[in-house]
Amino acid sequence: MSISALPRRVVVTGASGKLGRAVVAHLRAAGVDVLAVDRAGGRDPRDVDGEFLLVDLTDYGQVVEAFTGGADEHAGGVDAVVHLAAVPAPGLMSNATTFANNSATTYNVFAAARAAGIKRVVWASSETVLGLPFDTPPPYAPVDEEYAPRPESTYSLNKALEEEMARHFCRWDPELVMVGLRFSNVMDVEDYAPFPSFDADPQLRRWNLWGYIDARDGAQAVERALAHDQPGADVFVIANADTVMTRSSASLMAEVYPGVEIRKELGEHETLLSIEKARRVLGYDPRHSWRDHVDVL
Ligand SMILES: NC(=O)c1ccc[n+]([C@@H]2O[C@H](COP(=O)([O-])OP(=O)(O)OC[C@H]3O[C@@H](n4cnc5c(N)ncnc54)[C@H](O)[C@@H]3O)[C@@H](O)[C@H]2O)c1
Repeated sequence: MSISALPRRVVVTGASGKLGRAVVAHLRAAGVDVLAVDRAGGRDPRDVDGEFLLVDLTDYGQVVEAFTGGADEHAGGVDAVVHLAAVPAPGLMSNATTFANNSATTYNVFAAARAAGIKRVVWASSETVLGLPFDTPPPYAPVDEEYAPRPESTYSLNKALEEEMARHFCRWDPELVMVGLRFSNVMDVEDYAPFPSFDADPQLRRWNLWGYIDARDGAQAVERALAHDQPGADVFVIANADTVMTRSSASLMAEVYPGVEIRKELGEHETLLSIEKARRVLGYDPRHSWRDHVDVL
């Protein structure tokens, strides 16, 4: 594990979004000076909790200004960027629109960070690069970072390209640290009520091997990634320690993916999206479970 102190001042993109709100709150509580940016929300100062800048990240000039203190009242050197802004799933917008927005925003963020001399970038990749929705079975389980990306949608293709782009940015700058977090399906506490109903049909959530990430634990992963100081690009699967099911993980795999090799002794509800690398390298340690919020019969 190569861990340093948290950066002092951090720009968080996608700050008005589901994960972004949790990340901004978590980092501010940890004492980080956060400039929250998004193209939505925060226009009315009465709605804003803390420093916020309205930015369309598809416009490179706006991104550079956000990162270099170019916008009035938002001066101050930026030490790190957390890039979460995106159309956050396949099927929400047309494929070309999703690709155009997400590829432009991420290129602009990576390139503007480089231009501004920012040496730490943490960004949201996605569990989708693991091969979701697993119409083709996974190569083995739990799935991890050890096999090449298998994007099955335009959204996921862009995330896979972002991971490749990060590797080249790091090749160009040997001091740069870039951490891609392959988040599972993001959940707030209000999302947990229907979880017990998933048990009736194991097919219902097989598309991501019954995984999820509590937004608060996602925020913890971002904090851990910001403290990572090993130069180069790396990626980590970020999920909770358990599945969304009350049935055992082993029985789910045996029923739905009987031919898939199980590479370890599985705990009763152990995640099939391996978080062992994130635990080992980042010190990620998820604290929450949907089971703490919903009565499980
Ligand atoms: N939600 C999930 O289940 C999930 C799973 C894996 C990965 N992710 C990734 O995590 C990140 C955050 O997802 P989320 O669930 O919080 O999504 P969200 O839609 O709640 O938030 C995304 C935010 O990005 C902003 N945004 C999009 N395009 C922008 C642009 N051009 N300029 C400025 N702001 C822009 C939106 O306004 C929005 O507030 C995304 O990168 C997403 O792909 C999400």
